[in-house]
Amino acid sequence: MPEPAAWWRQAVVYQIYPRSFADANGDGIGDLPGITSRVGYLRELGVDAVWLSPFYPSALADGGYDVDDHRAVDPKIGTLAQFDEMVAALKAAGIRLIVDIVPNHTSDRHEWFRAALAAAPGSPERDRYVFRRGEGPHGERPPSDWTAAFGGPAWEPVGDGQWYLHMFAPEQPDLNWDNQEVREDFLRTLRFWADRGVDGFRVDVANALAKDLTPPLPSQAELDAEDLPDGVHRLLDRDEVHEIYKGWRELFDRYDPPRTAVAEAWVRSAHRRARYASPEGLGQAFNFDLLLASWDAGDFRKIIEENLALARSAGTSSTWVFSNHDVVRHATRFALPSGTDLDEWLLGNGTNPPADAERGLRRARAATLLALALPGSTYLYQGEELGLPEVADLPPEALQDPTWTRSDGTRKGRDGSRVPLPWTTAGPSFGFGPGPAHLPQPAGFGELSVERQEADETSTLALYRRALAERRRLQTDEGLEWADAPPDVVEFSRANGWTCITNFGETPVPLPRGRLVLSSTPLPGSVLPGDTTAWLEVD
Ligand code: NOJ
Ligand code: CA
Repeated sequence: MPEPAAWWRQAVVYQIYPRSFADANGDGIGDLPGITSRVGYLRELGVDAVWLSPFYPSALADGGYDVDDHRAVDPKIGTLAQFDEMVAALKAAGIRLIVDIVPNHTSDRHEWFRAALAAAPGSPERDRYVFRRGEGPHGERPPSDWTAAFGGPAWEPVGDGQWYLHMFAPEQPDLNWDNQEVREDFLRTLRFWADRGVDGFRVDVANALAKDLTPPLPSQAELDAEDLPDGVHRLLDRDEVHEIYKGWRELFDRYDPPRTAVAEAWVRSAHRRARYASPEGLGQAFNFDLLLASWDAGDFRKIIEENLALARSAGTSSTWVFSNHDVVRHATRFALPSGTDLDEWLLGNGTNPPADAERGLRRARAATLLALALPGSTYLYQGEELGLPEVADLPPEALQDPTWTRSDGTRKGRDGSRVPLPWTTAGPSFGFGPGPAHLPQPAGFGELSVERQEADETSTLALYRRALAERRRLQTDEGLEWADAPPDVVEFSRANGWTCITNFGETPVPLPRGRLVLSSTPLPGSVLPGDTTAWLEVD
């Protein structure tokens, strides 16, 4: 008998951003008991696994990606015992668990960073991070002019002529991965969670761990110029990073079943990304190409072909994703003219240019059905099954994303995709919790709630449930075959007769042969209208 394919290769993984999922104790922040209480919902939705964004102790300078202690639970969110209860409830429902691992940086409250600040320049405590002497006689100027991802300088002075590097917020000092203790400690962290029943890991900024800081440091302009598809960059996507993941893979493979991992690696070319996904490495990598694509049949088909081929040659399966906690929700992206500058658009409180919400949702549903019919795993982001739009008009005083302050108010950031979920039509936070939510929800959120959509068989929730159930029956580890289709149409079939067709245009097209399984919007007779996907089955 052939080996059964690894569970993750064709999994549907649902991302939970814990602070915004469900609040059991009413403090306005989603928590682990909240997740446990909703396991029934996840089972009914039909997902194979949950990816849990950081739940570790954190001052929330970057929504939890500033980790004080990688082997503990944030008391604001729960306890380790409640973590175990959540794992047990998920397991009982047949749902696997992937946790987020943040290896590029710790928080500035991590005991290592406190020890580094208390210790002298050149000490072993400082060597766990990236400290450099500043320029000028007293080190009063930063070691380079590098800028951080959220805006502002990437170096922070500590008062003795030394500066530390932070690629993200100043509260997120970068670790030094040339330091053995750092390497060993992360292996310990991975073991800690794997031993507690965690099935896999999502690796945050997986492409940034290996850095070359040999002097002289290049300027930001030189750094940007290094950033070529296959060029060697001082800070990103360096070949040495794969050495680290080889060690992690050895650890993962000691478990039965082997632990899985998925790299978050925003690299410039799909074939560089495939290296993170090799079986000797993390095993899978997020493919953000569809998330970046506009609504265009040719672009979609090209992206799909390329990624399936790369995944095959790397010995893995592709991933597909349209939304996560870092980007404008796809129901809203598809509601805007292609090429819209989303940062600009958010600054206008979502009014410029106006979003065509109906069209956005229609396309989002069609896009999701298309991705769910592809070979590979699909990552869903909490709330997309409700068709939630980006909450674009959050008032500045409500914003929590460091992007807003670090960019001096020129970029609003990611809070609009992190607004707590509406579970019920009414209530102080629409069922998110017994009190108000930590980010304000729009007045109309109740209309999008789980309660409302459960009662409506044409709802987006009903569509996701049906789609995941049918996919469970139809999905295979085999590839696909393209059908000849008009320019605005993408059509393919799987070996078992499962056909998927998407009409990206406006003119209805004939449906292919087969029994209709489902469609992203109701079909008027035997044609496929614009912005619609249908699944059919040929016996
Ligand atoms: C990627 C995470 O998804 C994002 O939310 C975070 O801000 C950065 N990495 C830094 O950890
Ligand atoms: Ca809570």
